Order: sequence, then structure tokens, then C-alpha cells
Amino acid sequence: MDQTSKQKLASRIDPIVDSYGREHRSLRISVTDRCNIRCFYCMPENVKFLPQNSILSFEEIRQVVEILACHGVNRVRITGGEPLVRSEIWNLVSQLKSVSGIDEIALTTNGILLSDQAQKLKDSGLDRINVSLDSIDPVKFKEITRRDALDKVFAGIDAAILAGFDNIRINAVSVRGISETEVIPLVSWAQQKGLHLRFIEFMPLDGDKAWQDQQVFTGAMMRKIIEEEFGTLSPVVRARSSQPSVDFQLRGDGPQIGFIDSVTEPFCSSCDRMRITAEGKLRNCLFSTEEWDLKQLIRSNGSVEQIELLIREGIRHKKLGHGSDTGRFVRPDRAMYQIGG
Ligand code: 5AD
Ligand code: SF4
Repeated sequence: MDQTSKQKLASRIDPIVDSYGREHRSLRISVTDRCNIRCFYCMPENVKFLPQNSILSFEEIRQVVEILACHGVNRVRITGGEPLVRSEIWNLVSQLKSVSGIDEIALTTNGILLSDQAQKLKDSGLDRINVSLDSIDPVKFKEITRRDALDKVFAGIDAAILAGFDNIRINAVSVRGISETEVIPLVSWAQQKGLHLRFIEFMPLDGDKAWQDQQVFTGAMMRKIIEEEFGTLSPVVRARSSQPSVDFQLRGDGPQIGFIDSVTEPFCSSCDRMRITAEGKLRNCLFSTEEWDLKQLIRSNGSVEQIELLIREGIRHKKLGHGSDTGRFVRPDRAMYQIGG
């Protein structure tokens, strides 16, 4: 083996580790801050988006992913904003899919543009799709998203099933005072369609900065409502220790139901994720109050080593926990759509 190959091999087994020993294997990359709806828990109604030239190009994203893949990152999730509003996003999927070391490309979408794009995404090698859907009632959907688009989301989900995505997950953000009536219909619908539904606790990442802890509709409350209606939820063994959801099964052969209790049961201790915002800033946590400017380094022709160093520096600063369940919590400046969900 020549010197260069040896160096390459050595760097391959040098994962990106924070100061608490957590190895980082997963990247969430936001490809836009734009969205075609306005969920109240994420975006303000009137919002100013980033100019096009301040957003990372597909080529720049690929460059960073290639560097990360050499250091043990093997899963990438494409997020936003709404990733499907970015022009020809399937081209990014196929570019990232061809990066050696990347085992899985996933995407989180609100589903509105999915009916047109599902097949192209499948053909480009996309492995998984998560669809965000908080209600199957059109009036409630509009109340939450401030837009009338539930039919399009349903059509998008059906198109994804038809395109051959067999592990579609539905993510439902739950807010106290709003979502109580939605839990049972969502569970019935998801069980009937064979979809893995996950409930996510409302986090203090809303653009309006109106979050209050009384609005957290906890996973425990939801589990109680579900068990009263449908019977016992049996815990399922975690597929991966770093997965944020705790999954259950209602019946032996039915789809799972998961709970991402990010506020009441933070899963920080096993977190293996890093994030890059649409603007090209590295964040070591959703709740990070610091960012590291990868775009600036890439656009000033920074070397591979400099980019790697900056990433390692950012991850080294990762805190042990986000603290939203304790008194130590500091709300980040950015909202979810600006970070990437
Ligand atoms: N709290 C919890 N989840 C949120 N999301 C957006 N804003 C919030 C919030 N404040 C979710 C979306 C989607 C994912 C990208 O993040 O609904 O499922
Ligand atoms: Fe758009 Fe997702 Fe934010 Fe809703 S939560 S406004 S779908 S980015």
C-alpha cells in the first residue's frame, strides 16, 4: 500500500468525536430555508428568506459530504425549510448517493410537492422519506400550517408508496391545546395505511418565539390517550441507540408508533448528529447558540484539511445536553426552518 492510500485509510478510521466521546455518524443538511406552508410552530407568517447566492450549491454540499464520509459519517438527511422547493433536488440525492461511505440518504418533506417528485427521488437513490403531517383534518391542517394543502400531502404520500418507498415515516408535531383531538385519528389512519407514525414534542424553535412550556403535549400524555383508545403499547427494541424516537407496537403485526420526547426526555447522550444550515454554517446541535462558517471557508478555497479542522472544532464544542428540560436552557436565535429539522 502506498503512502497516500495509508494516509487515506488512517483518516477513514478517525471519526469526528466530541469532548464527551460521542462519535458523529449522521449529517442533517438543510438545502433551503424556504417553505410552501407556514406551520405556526416553525415559521412566522411574514418571513424574509435568504438570497439564492448565500445558499450552498449542490457542488459545495457534495464537497463537504465527501470530507465527512472519510471520517465515519455514513447517513445524510436532506431537510429545510421544505427541500422539495429547491430546484431539482433529486440531482443532489444522486450526487450524494455516489459518495463512497454514505450508506443512507433520507429526506424530510411536508409532502406537498411529493406527488410530482416521488418517482424521480426514488430513481435517484433516495432511501427513506419522512413526511411531516400533524393532522388529517383539513380545517385543523389549515389552522396549523396557515395553508390549505392537505389533499396534496395525501397525494404525495400515495405517490411515495407507489414509487416503492416502503419505510415512510409520518412525523406529527404535537402542541397542547391543539393536537389533543388529532392523536386518535392520526393513529387510526397510520395503522390503516401501514405507516410508521411518530409524535414529536413541540420545541422552543418557533419563528414567532411564542413557545411556552405549558404548550408541550408530552409523549407520556399521548401514550395514555392512545392506550385508552387502542389498548397496550408494547415497547420495541431500538434499532439504533442514537435514534431519537422510542417506538411501540399496538398489535403484533401493525406498523410502529414512535415518540420523540425531545423536551421531556432528551436523547442527547446518544446523539450522533451534526447539522449544516442552508447558509453553510455547521451546528453541533439544534439548540446550539454557536455556528461555524463552512461556506466562507469553502468559497475562499479552504483546503480539505482546513474544512475538516473547522468541523472537528465545531463538534468539540458540543454540549452534553440541550437543557430544555432544566433551568439551564438558552433559546437559540434561529427557528427550525433556519436550522433544518
Ligand atoms: N418543535 C418540534 N418540531 C418542529 N418541527 C418544526 N418546528 C418544530 C418545533 N418548534 C418539525 C417539523 C418537521 C421537522 C422538520 O421538524 O414538523 O417534522
Ligand atoms: Fe415548512 Fe416544515 Fe417549517 Fe412547516 S415545519 S413551515 S413544513 S419547514
